[in-house]
Amino acid sequence: MTQEKFGSKIAVYPGSFDPITNGHVDIIKRGIRMFDEIIILVAYNPSKTSLFTVEERVEMIQETIKDIDGVRVDSHAGLLVDYLKKTGASIILRGMRAVSDFEYEFQMALMNRRQSREIETVFLMSGFKWFYTGSQIIKQVASIGGSVKGLLPDHVHKKILAKYNNGRR
Ligand code: PNS
Repeated sequence: MTQEKFGSKIAVYPGSFDPITNGHVDIIKRGIRMFDEIIILVAYNPSKTSLFTVEERVEMIQETIKDIDGVRVDSHAGLLVDYLKKTGASIILRGMRAVSDFEYEFQMALMNRRQSREIETVFLMSGFKWFYTGSQIIKQVASIGGSVKGLLPDHVHKKILAKYNNGRR
């Protein structure tokens, strides 16, 4: 039986990226070995309030990926599947951390597949070092003065400190 193949392998890596972390960077670097192109998409998650504006998040991602070939960044305020249709991409890339991520990710993957049968979600297991970190807990710790150094690209680390304490912490 012949199955229709995916076209060029463009993967969209969507998320809030508020802000981008080293865990995200790990997924991007490993992902680009599998796909021709990755579009990192700063997408709208209505259940989260963000610390950084969309423009700030895009800028931080841009700086982070400037030396990685085949990766670019974009933003989108609507449905994720509509963005994929617009760009001709058929793969959603997501990182999966601890077991607690599974239900949330499974629900999103199934909902996106329900919107469009042409779209598949591909998961990469988070790197061991980043298994229990993420933007939310990093922000929480940074906001009350804890150290988050090493969990974010250095330029993002500076931005988060500046956001919470005007650079004094
Ligand atoms: O980093 P996050 O917040 O876990 O990413 C979630 C995100 C932004 C990928 C998700 O909320 C999303 O796809 N938002 C775009 C709107 C949409 O299509 N929602 C339905 C997803 S099933």
